Amino acid sequence: MRVMEGLDLFEEVGRLKEELNAVILAHYYQEPDIQDVADFIGDSLALAQKAQRTDADVIVFCGVHFMAETAKILNPEKKVILPDLEAGCSLADSCPAEQFEEFLRRHPGHAVVSYVNTSAAVKALSDIICTSSNAEKIIATIPEDVPIVFAPDRHLGRYVQQKTGRKMVLWPGTCMVHVQFSEKKIRQLKVRHPEAEVLAHPECEERVLALADHVGSTSSLLRRVTESPAKTFIVATEPGIIHQMQKAAPEKTFIRAPGEGPACEACSECPHMRRNTLEKLLSCMRELSPEIEIDEELRLRALRPIERMLEVG
Ligand code: 13P
Ligand code: SF4
Repeated sequence: MRVMEGLDLFEEVGRLKEELNAVILAHYYQEPDIQDVADFIGDSLALAQKAQRTDADVIVFCGVHFMAETAKILNPEKKVILPDLEAGCSLADSCPAEQFEEFLRRHPGHAVVSYVNTSAAVKALSDIICTSSNAEKIIATIPEDVPIVFAPDRHLGRYVQQKTGRKMVLWPGTCMVHVQFSEKKIRQLKVRHPEAEVLAHPECEERVLALADHVGSTSSLLRRVTESPAKTFIVATEPGIIHQMQKAAPEKTFIRAPGEGPACEACSECPHMRRNTLEKLLSCMRELSPEIEIDEELRLRALRPIERMLEVG
């Protein structure tokens, strides 16, 4: 039980949810208690799809800013609130819209595919959005003779390039969490646990992906733990997801992939995702703030490439 001001936080969040006709959406990287009070937990594609279909009046988005912003772009008439407005994303920050616009001027005639981990302003400059779940499918919609710019994650871009055989111009962004996994320490873990499968998110560096038995989005990694006969998994993504992995396969063992630092247990935790806490979740529901707001002209420009992605699925 978690208590604030003498109130059971879980009960109070549940009560407010009814009162507000709110839906709580949470990403797999949120702290376990937030996942446990959420109505729906998913990867970034599933969360966008859920936000598109909800009939709630208030969307409480437990994830990072670009995810909540995508929900708002899809639901201009609804209130979209998030526990901490400062919960950003190093990958989205690595691609400022003005610099991206300049980059696109240097690559005329290219189809622009942007990962959902971008600001609304970058989405507005893009032809179509993708997530790590559907990137290969999205690339397949672009005619073979059209060159492609892919932004902002260069590791996901390189991975998709290898999977699809399509050459793409890559924006050089990275995720601060996924690039810190240590190839050397994962190799050492594999020696100690030769039976273990390595699961990795495609935002990891190539040398880490080369050690992986399964590469995929958060939902794909989660599915793998039930579909695979393996009993032990080394997990090279944000460890928040291990909460759902343990629920899905309680008899199996999950080991966090280590980072480069000397005692780097916590560096695989996304500092942005972890800004959200159950206490801040309750406060934002009480105050209906912080709220995502977006200029209507920008929203409409960012909406079209998101809708194109959702049409592909
Ligand atoms: P998923 O789309 O796989 O959930 O990934 C989102 C993310 O931010 C990965 O770092
Ligand atoms: Fe962004 Fe990386 Fe955090 Fe995902 S894990 S939200 S890509 S900083």
